[in-house]
Amino acid sequence: MITFEPIDAPLGAVVTGVDPTAEPTAELVDALADGLLTHGVLVFRVGPIQPDQFVRLGRAFGELEILPEPDKRHPDHPEIFNLTNVKADDNIAEFDDPQSVFLRGTERWHTDSSFRQLPCLCTMLYAVEVPATGSTTEFADMVAAFEGLPPEQQAELSSLRLVHSYEYSRANNPGKLTPMDDAERAKFPPVSHPWVRHHADNRRSLYMGGHASHIEGRDIDAGRAAIAELTEQVTTDDVIYAHHWRQHDLVVWDNRTTLHRLRRYDIANQRRVMRRITVANNHPVT
Ligand code: OGA
Ligand code: MN
Repeated sequence: MITFEPIDAPLGAVVTGVDPTAEPTAELVDALADGLLTHGVLVFRVGPIQPDQFVRLGRAFGELEILPEPDKRHPDHPEIFNLTNVKADDNIAEFDDPQSVFLRGTERWHTDSSFRQLPCLCTMLYAVEVPATGSTTEFADMVAAFEGLPPEQQAELSSLRLVHSYEYSRANNPGKLTPMDDAERAKFPPVSHPWVRHHADNRRSLYMGGHASHIEGRDIDAGRAAIAELTEQVTTDDVIYAHHWRQHDLVVWDNRTTLHRLRRYDIANQRRVMRRITVANNHPVT
């Protein structure tokens, strides 16, 4: 039987009674979708999951996104994104190698694929190999963050929209990346979303993060400063769950209501191999 054991943190639950390598049933998908709404982050401490099993699990939830960055797609399963600091020759990429620079970009608070007109529902990240210490991923509850704001600030933010852009967030990675080709760039023009999202269950949450470039219709630099300031203001310990990875952990998070970031670790010396799939959402952001 599937159970959700809430983690001793503001969000997150450990899921037991599920074999992610088995053919997913409709009941399982419903239960997990409910669990995701309730807990924001679901942690499975499981065993090896093969790439085809991983894709099957993700597909049971909906269409899977194909991410920008073609060189990071799994060769047999383009829906799987290989997030790894290990190079093809099995050496660890240097700190300033574009492969590491890209990964270090996830150290900024963000929500996945907010640069799309229809951003994703959830991300599933599976640990193939993780360092013995460090490389924690933090998740911040943006429903609680919104609810904690004074009513005047809630009202002001609710009247604004943010422009999200992949080109912007990529240009702000902490180092030099291999340039994106024109065809890939053309696929991801900037989009705008409300700063405050409304969910089907009447909750509201802040929607921002590293892909958010500026406030629509406002001075660009002032908007950037306001986004940075609010992010700093609301990402306090009382809304955060810090996940300390073990090999074969599978973590699924709700990108509609949470922000996440990788915490810094010794990326130039410690191997970290993760596989990610991203479940699309066909509901517009409201
Ligand atoms: C991601 C991400 C953080 C991590 O996969 O979207 O932000 O800890 N990952 O690898
Ligand atoms: Mn991410």
